[in-house]
Amino acid sequence: MKIGVIKETRPGEKRVALTPAVVKDFISDGNEVLVETNAGLNSHFTDEDYKNAGASILDKKDVFNQADVIVKVNPPSDDDVDFFREGQIFIGLMFPYNQPELIQKLAEKKITAFAMELIPRISRAQNMDVLSSQSNLAGYKAVIIGADELEKIFPLMMTAAGTVKPARVLIYGVGVAGLQAIATAKRLGAIVEATDIRPETKEEAESLGAKFIQVEDESLKDVSEGGYAKEVSEEFLRKQKEAVDKSLFQADLVITTALVMGRKAPRLITEEQIKQMKHGAVIVDMAVEQGGNVEISEPDKIVEKHGVKVVGKTNLPSLLAVNASELYAKNMYNFLTFLSKEGQVQYDKEDEIVQGTLVIENGNILKS
Ligand code: NAI
Repeated sequence: MKIGVIKETRPGEKRVALTPAVVKDFISDGNEVLVETNAGLNSHFTDEDYKNAGASILDKKDVFNQADVIVKVNPPSDDDVDFFREGQIFIGLMFPYNQPELIQKLAEKKITAFAMELIPRISRAQNMDVLSSQSNLAGYKAVIIGADELEKIFPLMMTAAGTVKPARVLIYGVGVAGLQAIATAKRLGAIVEATDIRPETKEEAESLGAKFIQVEDESLKDVSEGGYAKEVSEEFLRKQKEAVDKSLFQADLVITTALVMGRKAPRLITEEQIKQMKHGAVIVDMAVEQGGNVEISEPDKIVEKHGVKVVGKTNLPSLLAVNASELYAKNMYNFLTFLSKEGQVQYDKEDEIVQGTLVIENGNILKS
């Protein structure tokens, strides 16, 4: 099978879908890999590195003309769409429910397309799960950005001039990003508290050294579904505010990661609450792209109000492009290997992973 790697063109995107190490793995499995010129340069993988791994370096037109399977991080750009050939296979992030027009255009090209972000959260698919691999890195970076914006240090420091108290960090949402945020803030020496609606996250947060703020509510008994949270009631969100407010008003850094799959992000911190926070505190809203957990956050801006900085950063994984590409490429290798038999893409349509991810099959739209 010929696998084509296309250079990302989304503004600010530095990742690449395959790294030279993974190219080598594909080639030793008997495949050919064609890489668009400079596809990996923003992740610091040069064309020379890809050549040494056994890939051919071509321009975009030739990659599209020759490859059986096209792999990318982001969805195809308008420019990419024109290049697709009938019967070609695309694998990458797609967000089909947010961009029906793109899906329609791709379908007209009679291709087959799989969305990496729709890989189900089941044990068998863990090594293909790009949302987890990228959120893990994003959780780390959110703390680093927050620490940089904060005009305070994290650890307790005893000096001749006196003792500096450790920073207090509060994390909303103990999923993949939240757990890594807890671990990172702890490593830097902060006092960490965390909250989530899924009761099972208490143990995980505590095992990393965070204090868990539990919100008692009958409705929480059945709140998990397929590794994701379901939506909770307004009444619950009010109770949560009451339980967490004391910690929020003492916090130096707050990281919000709360997500309900397929829904707008739950609004957890209002401007009224921000008014009561410490002057100089920092909030990093990781859910800013899904509408935000924080009332005043804006994508790719720092909003400063009432003495609090609210950082809304999209595409955090791209800021760690080297590792993010390495993990994405491994996920891609595992997924494409799972989809292939005897050097060709041959999948079982009944399989849960295929059902979850198959967006277009030979021009027929299955998800939009
Ligand atoms: P996840 O699904 O693993 O975790 C989300 C957690 O939020 C779950 O544990 C869930 O129970 C919890 N949650 C839901 N509603 C809540 C509420 N009302 N209060 C408290 N907790 C609540 O998701 P993951 O992968 O950790 O991602 C977290 C967020 O970060 C998502 O919004 C995701 O889109 C975003 N993200 C942002 C990136 C960026 O570049 N800004 C990069 C990666 C992820």
